[in-house]
Order: sequence, then C-alpha cells, then structure tokens
Amino acid sequence: MQTKLIDSIQEAAEILRCGGLVAFPTETVFGLGVDACHERAVERLFAAKGRPSDNPLIVHLSDSCYWPLAASELTHCAAILLEHFAPGPITVVLPKNPQICPAVTGGLSTVGIRIPSARPARDLLRAAGIPVAAPSANLSGRPSGTTWQSVLEDLDGRIDAILTIDVHNVGLESSVVDCTGQIPVLLRPGAVGLTELQKYFADARGLQPDEPLEAALINSPGLRHRHYQPKAKVRLVEAEAKWSDEPSQPPRRFAYAGMENPPNNMIVCQQYTSLAEFAQGFYEFLRAADRAAVDEVLIQLVTPAQAEQSGIAAALRDRQLRAAGLK
Ligand code: TXA
Ligand code: MG
Repeated sequence: MQTKLIDSIQEAAEILRCGGLVAFPTETVFGLGVDACHERAVERLFAAKGRPSDNPLIVHLSDSCYWPLAASELTHCAAILLEHFAPGPITVVLPKNPQICPAVTGGLSTVGIRIPSARPARDLLRAAGIPVAAPSANLSGRPSGTTWQSVLEDLDGRIDAILTIDVHNVGLESSVVDCTGQIPVLLRPGAVGLTELQKYFADARGLQPDEPLEAALINSPGLRHRHYQPKAKVRLVEAEAKWSDEPSQPPRRFAYAGMENPPNNMIVCQQYTSLAEFAQGFYEFLRAADRAAVDEVLIQLVTPAQAEQSGIAAALRDRQLRAAGLK
C-alpha cells in the first residue's frame, strides 16, 4: 500500500468515511484515525500498528454534544469534566454505546471519549461526521508520533494517508480519566492533572501505587503493555552531580535529555528550558536516540516535587519511568 501525504481535510474525511486509515495531528500527539463503527477497518488498524487486541482505542468526536454516538450514558462526573476541559487533552471513560465495534474497546463495556482542541482535528471530525477511533500514530511499543515525519517513519506503507498539517502539540498523550463512578480516577496522567480534577471533585485520585494490579488492569488495560521504550538502555538521573563524574568516552555512545548542563560528548543532546518544552520534545528525542543507535540514554528525571506542580510534569515523569521500563 502507498501512504499518501495529503493536506486536504476534505480528502482525509472522505478516506475515513470509506473505511481508510488516516493519521492526523491533535494538540497532544498525532492520532491514527478510523471509523469506529467499521469492524474490518478497525481490524486493519490494529494490524497496521501491531497493537495487542485487548488494548482499547479512544473514540474522538468533534463536540461533547455528540457523546451519545459513542457512550450509552453521560455520568455526572464526565459531564462536569467535559464542560470544563473539553475540547482539550482529556479522555473520559464511560459506559459504551453498542454501535461502537467491540474491537475498538477490546471487548470492554466502557469506552474512552475525547474531543481534541487542535483545529485540523476538529475540522476533520466535523467533515467526517462519524465517531473516529484513534490511537497514537506509531508502531505499538514505539514513542508516539508528534510530527508527521515520525508518523511516516513508523507507518509508511501500512496506512492510507497522513494529514501533513503541523500544529503546536503538548507532546504527550491525553489524561485518561475513569468517569464510570461517582469520583474521577486518573488512569493515565496527561496535561490535565490531578490538581485540575480536584478543583471540581475534591476526592479525585490517581491509581494508587499499592492498588492491586488486577483491579488497575481491568480499568486501564493499556497499563499492561510495554510502552515507549527506546532500543538503548535508559538511565534516569535525578541531578547533575550524579552523572557529571561519569566517563562518556568511546566506544560507548550516549544521548542526553534534560534541563541541566549536559555531560560532554553526547551524540544526541536535548537541553530544555522548561518542563513543558521537555515534554513537547521528549518523544522526538527518544526517536533521535534510536536513529543514532546510541548505547545508553540519559534522562533527567522529573522529581516528585516537580510532578506535583503541574499535570504535564506528572505526565512527563510517568513517560520517563515507562521509557526506562520502571512502570
Ligand atoms: O492524546 C491521546 O489520547 C492520543 C490522541 C491521538 O488522541 N491517543 C492515544 O491513544 O494516546 P492510545 O491508543 O495510544 O492510548 C489510549 C489509552 C490506552 O492506555 C488505553 O488503555 C486507554 O487509553 N483506554 C482507552 N479506552 C479505555 C477504556 N475504555 N478504559 C480504560 N482505558 C482506556
Ligand atoms: Mg499510544
């Protein structure tokens, strides 16, 4: 299959309506869209990504008012969160509408719904007029694609088209929030953090570190799978002092990402001036490290204190721990 690079929203919408696979930009990362009610197309999408069939997809809508297309009930908790945070980088998990293919939700009775805020994504969803299931546009287990070039690197020849429009993105995926109960539970940290959720639900919580894994997996099957791990070994470092004494001479080749002064002789080096910028560039950094075939990746770990300051900082720490295989 040839993957078309296109810049027309109408053309992208037409491909989706005909059961095709189209990657498109959102304010978090690029999504790989498919008609959520078209069973064969959904199967093709799982195959294109190499995604385990029990890891559910998020259904994207152009506006919160279309929730009945994907969910069977809008809980109080979801209504409040959508009112305040949608459109934007949040996914609410609700009881599923049977019209959505069982394959989309990996057989679960719930469905994640998201209303992206990026203009091209909303225009595309409006033009397509259908609920669009869209995982991040990358091969399963690779960092999410945050540029169309990275999407092409992973999915060339496997999908029908890529909408090559650039948007400013957060760089990390949306916050996934279980809204099936009375109180929201943050299943995957994203730009909307626990503090923001607690403004509306004082008892909102994340998954507890000591929560029995079984229960956590039922609520968030994606946690079971490996994510974002680069080919090289990842070493998380908390402060400059810990690595500044270490030799970085050949033959070992290092990559570094962080806000401190980098060690010498890095083959790939990303120094950021803020955590938001760090988050935005993080997946591209991991890809660059893979391309350069470094032996070891050094990443300055966001501290627990920093992670408490903002949603995006907490999300970045979460992705850093996953990249190191520690989650
Ligand atoms: O920002 C995002 O969310 C991006 C853009 C494209 O919208 N999408 C994205 O999709 O990150 P994906 O498939 O890479 O990650 C979806 C996550 C997985 O961890 C999955 O387990 C979880 O959402 N999820 C989806 N449906 C769920 C459900 N019904 N219950 C619990 N977790 C769910
Ligand atoms: Mg993903």
